[in-house]
Amino acid sequence: MEKHGSESYFVVGEGLLAESSNGRTVASAAQAAPPFRFSRMGPKGAGKQLGEPNRTKLGALMAAGGGETSAIPSGYTYLGQFIDHDLTFDKTNVMLGTQINPSVLLQARSPSLDLDSLYGAGPQDPESAKFYEADGTHLKLGKTVAADGIPAKNGFDLPRGAGSSQKAKRKAIIPDPRNDENLAVAQTHLAMARFHNRVLDTLPGSVPAAQKFATARELVTKHYQWMIRTDYLPRICRPSAVNNVFNQGRKVFEVGATPTDVPTMPIEFSVAAFRLGHSMIRASYNWNKIFDGGSGSLELLFTFSATGGNLGGDLHLPSNWIADFRRLYDFKEAGHNALGVPAGKFNFAKAIDTRIVDPLRDLPPATFGGSGIPSGDPQRNLAFRNLTRGRMVRLATGQQMATFMKSKGVNFPTLTKAQIRDGKGGVVLDTLTTKQRDKVLRDTPLWFYVLREAELNGGQLRGVGARIVAETMHRAMEGSTHSIVRDTAFRPSLGPNATTFRMADLLFFAFEGKKTLLAPVG
Ligand code: HEM
Repeated sequence: MEKHGSESYFVVGEGLLAESSNGRTVASAAQAAPPFRFSRMGPKGAGKQLGEPNRTKLGALMAAGGGETSAIPSGYTYLGQFIDHDLTFDKTNVMLGTQINPSVLLQARSPSLDLDSLYGAGPQDPESAKFYEADGTHLKLGKTVAADGIPAKNGFDLPRGAGSSQKAKRKAIIPDPRNDENLAVAQTHLAMARFHNRVLDTLPGSVPAAQKFATARELVTKHYQWMIRTDYLPRICRPSAVNNVFNQGRKVFEVGATPTDVPTMPIEFSVAAFRLGHSMIRASYNWNKIFDGGSGSLELLFTFSATGGNLGGDLHLPSNWIADFRRLYDFKEAGHNALGVPAGKFNFAKAIDTRIVDPLRDLPPATFGGSGIPSGDPQRNLAFRNLTRGRMVRLATGQQMATFMKSKGVNFPTLTKAQIRDGKGGVVLDTLTTKQRDKVLRDTPLWFYVLREAELNGGQLRGVGARIVAETMHRAMEGSTHSIVRDTAFRPSLGPNATTFRMADLLFFAFEGKKTLLAPVG
């Protein structure tokens, strides 16, 4: 994974920690009081971790494919990945498997939902100016290359073209290269950039020029948070669990924190619960009119990005790969019937359960920054990697987290051993040895536990998983520079009414409600 060593950051509660134009360090977060740290929400899982043979076997079972399809549109999978990259960025080059203390896992990005993965440190920052147009307010967009009879199109690829080598020219000019790890997350990033530009273009003339950027950024960030709280979260988590946290407050994470203090990033979220998104990924998509009928494979979505692939050999995205957002989000649900597609063309995410699709058993090494690891090596298996990270930080087990949360007054049913063993349509543990299986049922890795909870709850997080996700998101919004948790009077103004702002509404606004922009390939 790429580092961002030279970048500067806006640190909530501290201001901009940046290099001045003459290259001197203005302030160093690391020297003062390092504000960006992972933290531990629950107890340590010392002595509770699975050994390597068990992790290898369980990882292989989890990544064997299969599993149900959900009722969640596939766009939300990659929206989740985009949100994750906004929240978490592990830039420490620790080797997988090394025992490390979470306090040394410095957060390279602020664990808040402030879109620093889109804005960098803002247009005034020398290192981030490259993400912006010459006017210093609009985010740069890129141009596709003609393909399949579709002409080159401005504004449908990420901006690229800096540097001299082919690889450097291909590289997206965005703050976080992980947002070009696959085409679906790249097009999500592009949509967010367009959203910002459109908000900017539609600001009332009364906003003074010098305040346009800041005004747009605040509007964008608050609408984005509103959408996460009211649309994204209740799709992936049991809505009552989300409402409980947002209406009654947190019970387990940074309870009573001064709202504007820098939040930390709980490893239980980063290493386990929010990796739920890995189980939503499909092996193939009805991507657009050209790559239809499942021919938009996950493998090709990697290929047509520049971090996970090489844009198929071109220097820009070929036009025939531009997303058809109508196939990824339900515009009919948002009242735009003309933007619906026939049911057979729509992509639903895989259900949140203990299974992940088998292309993730053999990740392209570029997706995790490891080259030279041969195909078939467990290190290329995303499930094994997730389980191994858990061991590395001595993550609490599912059972430990359940006990801990209950002691804090959160009520939910704890999974029984039989439920963990049998699940519902998920991984079957029969091929583990009795000893291995007993260990998994007694000290269940948190990621597995959270996925079993969801599997037994019709594909939505509940219990331990829902609480970790909802509390972390709540705190991340609370601690953001712009925050709908602190600004309780905020209501969305860019959607259909003052309470509704879904991802489909965001896209509708960003792409001016036009089919020619939301689905230019058709
Ligand atoms: C094709 C899509 C995706 C791929 C290839 C992918 C791959 C990866 C890889 C390789 C890692 C690092 C694994 C390690 O610890 O060594 C990772 C981390 C992570 N992923 Fe994904 N992922 C994808 C989608 C998602 C989605 C949809 C979500 C959530 C909704 C998600 C959440 C996370 C989280 C929370 C981490 C930990 C990040 C950190 O601590 O910095 N990922 N992913």
